[in-house]
Amino acid sequence: MAKPLLISGIQPTGRLHLGNYLGALKNFVELQNAGDYRCLFFIADLHALTENPDPKDLHENIIGLAKSFLIAGLDPKRSIIFQQSKIQPLQELKWILSTLVPPGELLRMTAFKEKVLQALKPEEREKLTKEGYDQIIENTNYGLVEYPVLMAADILIFNGEFVPVGKDQLQHLEFARMLARKFNTRFGATFAEPKELLTKTSRVMSLTDPEKKMSKSQPEGCLFLDDSPADIKKKIMRAVTDSGSEVKFDPESKAGVANLLSIYEALSGTPIPELEKKYAGKGYGQFKADLADLAVDALAPFRDTKIADAKIKSALKTGDAKAKKLADAKMKVVKTKLGLL
Ligand code: AMP
Ligand code: TRP
Repeated sequence: MAKPLLISGIQPTGRLHLGNYLGALKNFVELQNAGDYRCLFFIADLHALTENPDPKDLHENIIGLAKSFLIAGLDPKRSIIFQQSKIQPLQELKWILSTLVPPGELLRMTAFKEKVLQALKPEEREKLTKEGYDQIIENTNYGLVEYPVLMAADILIFNGEFVPVGKDQLQHLEFARMLARKFNTRFGATFAEPKELLTKTSRVMSLTDPEKKMSKSQPEGCLFLDDSPADIKKKIMRAVTDSGSEVKFDPESKAGVANLLSIYEALSGTPIPELEKKYAGKGYGQFKADLADLAVDALAPFRDTKIADAKIKSALKTGDAKAKKLADAKMKVVKTKLGLL
C-alpha cells in the first residue's frame, strides 16, 4: 500500500525562531526520517502576501526559509520541498473551494479575528464596539479573509492525509476537512479528509514573558535560529524564572522554569525528570548556563552553514516540478467531477 501523504507549510515572514524550530521544523525532519509518510513541505509565500511585505524582504525570506529547511535536515531526495506560488493550479482549486463557503464562516475564524485586531492595544480592544469592528473588517485586505480557503487548497490538491501543525492552526485544518467533506458529498469521493499531527513541543513560551508564546513580535524573549552565541547566552541567562530556586517542572506555578526545561529536553533529548534530578539543589544559574551552551551548539548549523543561493533555488525547482505534477493530476480529477472537462 502507498504510504499516506503528509504536508505542511511555513510562511516566509521573517527570521525563524526556536518556537518555529521546536514547534514545526524539527518535527518535519523527524517525520521525514521516520519514513512512514510521503512528505511535502513548502514555503507558503502566497499566504505571506497577506502581510503586504516589502518585495525585497519577501524574496530574502523565501530563500532564507528554504535554507533553514535544508540546514534542519529536510532532504530534497526524501521530501518534496517547494514554493507555493509555483503551483498555479492552486489558484483554480482555491476558487472552486471558495464557491462552497459562505463568507460569514470565514469572517468568524479565530485566526482571522486575531489578525485584524493584532494592531490594537489591549485597551483599544476593550473599547471596540461592533461598529468599530465592522469598520476594521471592511478595510482589511481580502487575502486575510480567504486565507483558510487557500490553506485548504494547499492540502487538498495533494490529497494530504496528515498535516503537522501547531495548535493555532487546528481551526484552519477543521475548515479544510469540512471543505473536503462538502466537496465529496456533492461531487463524489475526491479528497482525503486531512488530520492534524500535533507536535510534542507545541508551544515554546517567551523567555521574558512565559505566559505568552515565543514570537518574533517580542524579540527580547525570542531566540532566533541565527542569533549570535553572545545573544543566545544573554537571552537565556536573563530568562524570567521565579523567586524560588528549584529546577522543577511545574507549568502552573513555575512557568518560566517549565519552559526552559521543555526547551532543554527538546534540544538534548534528555527527559525532563532526569534533568530535574541532575539539577536538584543546584539552583537556576548552572541550569541556565548549561542550557545556554546547549542552545549555542544546537543552533550552530543555522548560524554557520553556508549554502549558495543557486543550490537553494535548484533544490526548490526540483520540488516545484514534482509538486506541480501531483497538483495537475488532481485538478484533472476535480475538473472532471465538476463537469468542466
Ligand atoms: P508562524 O511564524 O507563527 O506562522 O509559525 C510557523 C510555524 O511555527 C507554525 O507551525 C507554528 O505553529 C509554529 N510556531 C510558531 N511559534 C511557535 C511557538 N512559540 N511554539 C511552538 N510552535 C510555534
Ligand atoms: N497557516 C500556516 C501557518 O501560519 C501555514 C500554512 C499555509 C500551512 N498553508 C498550509 C500549514 C498548509 C499546513 C498546511 O503556520
